Amino acid sequence: MIRIPKITIGRSEGDIEKYGSKKGTGYIGKHLVGDKGEAHVANPIYMDLSRPHVIGVFGKRGTGKSYSMGTMAEEILKAPESISNNLSAIIVDPMGIYWSMKFPNENDTALLDDWGLKPDAMDVQLYIPEGQAEEFREKDIPYDKTFTIKPGELSTSDWAMTFDIKLNEPRGILLEKVLRDLEEDYGEDYSLDNMVEYASTQGDFKEETRKALKNRFNAAKEWGIFSVEGSELSEFTERGTLTILDLSLFGAIRGSWSVRSLVVGLLSNKILRERMSSKRLEEMREMEGMQTSESPIVWMFIDEAHQFLPNDGETPASDPLLSWVKIGREPGVSLVLCTQQPYKLNPDALSQCDVVLSHRLTSKADIDALKNIMQNYMRYDLSTYIDNLPKAKGCAICLDDNSERVYKLRMRPRVSWHAGGTPTAIKDE
Ligand SMILES: Nc1ncnc2c1ncn2[C@@H]1O[C@H](COP(=O)(O)OP(=O)(O)OP(=O)(O)O)[C@@H](O)[C@H]1O
Ligand SMILES: [Mg+2]
Repeated sequence: MIRIPKITIGRSEGDIEKYGSKKGTGYIGKHLVGDKGEAHVANPIYMDLSRPHVIGVFGKRGTGKSYSMGTMAEEILKAPESISNNLSAIIVDPMGIYWSMKFPNENDTALLDDWGLKPDAMDVQLYIPEGQAEEFREKDIPYDKTFTIKPGELSTSDWAMTFDIKLNEPRGILLEKVLRDLEEDYGEDYSLDNMVEYASTQGDFKEETRKALKNRFNAAKEWGIFSVEGSELSEFTERGTLTILDLSLFGAIRGSWSVRSLVVGLLSNKILRERMSSKRLEEMREMEGMQTSESPIVWMFIDEAHQFLPNDGETPASDPLLSWVKIGREPGVSLVLCTQQPYKLNPDALSQCDVVLSHRLTSKADIDALKNIMQNYMRYDLSTYIDNLPKAKGCAICLDDNSERVYKLRMRPRVSWHAGGTPTAIKDE
């Protein structure tokens, strides 16, 4: 009998020896052997879920990036309880396409059958901003819970970045003063109305400066994400859960990406802080000889990641996400960054990716950005690998720093429905 070698991306040789190549992994696709039209699928490819990773998912428009992220997230939920109990996942969904994971992929029953899979609904928790609930209901988009954030938890620079205000201009100086006064009087427990009130009463500033800042605060009320109490964000990281944070309905507001980044920045900071303190607790318990209970590894999947962690400029999510990238191994947080244009992604994040899944890319700038990070162990030029990919959707190359190997693969079809499909003018008969 021929023994088919198993491929587990993201897993080091040491871990393969210790855990084997399948335990604690997800089945994400099949190895592609041969080039272009001649290529055929061979043995399964698994992805390590048991260790923290930074994964880049790239490819030009419509090549299957969001779909592939959904596949990885499905694997976290589908893992045996002993594994999924040690994991927790969040999808940051700026385009509003992941709600459909709640439904089985009945459209692709035949394709799934070829892969030995069946359509399946995922038990995801869909969170939306509290103030947008009515709009979601009107649009008939299902959701489970709403969330809010506390204005008092945001820093002066978070607000300044969101409002596009420089801290050394009069509005910036006023902003800093208002927040300082509020903190003195209320700690972290103040509302946007309090902010408007405090901006109005600062007599040392010109009327137009006060008015400009008040207008910004009033506009922020419309976003529907603030409340004095704020939500308990820890429920997003419960064991064995997949949370989808639908941030799509900010589309119509000015600076919508900054607002989304504000939410992501705050959430990432909180999760990291929580994970770091629980890690310390675990270590202390270990020292005291008590039984340790490992906290779940938190996986955060971010679609359109270049908007949150851009190459040029900074967003309220930049620093928090860079901390995930740089120190995430210790506290156990994984990040999956998905974008059409890797060269638009912050280079520090790009260079920290230990796994890259790249669908077809054609722009030289994007290919060069990838070449720079994982050239050492490639036998050919990266463009040659990409050129040799078949045209079919879901085909990609995988650069794995852990095994120092490059694979061509076809991602498996989704068992849950993917709503991000490219619309077509030609309808099926
Ligand atoms: N592995 C796959 N198997 C089968 N079909 C796939 C696969 N990956 C993608 N597709 C098909 O391709 C379509 C486009 O994929 P997807 O929405 O992930 O594109 P994208 O790369 O995220 O594009 P954009 O940059 O516009 O966001 C999907 O709706 C699906 O029909
Ligand atoms: Mg997409």
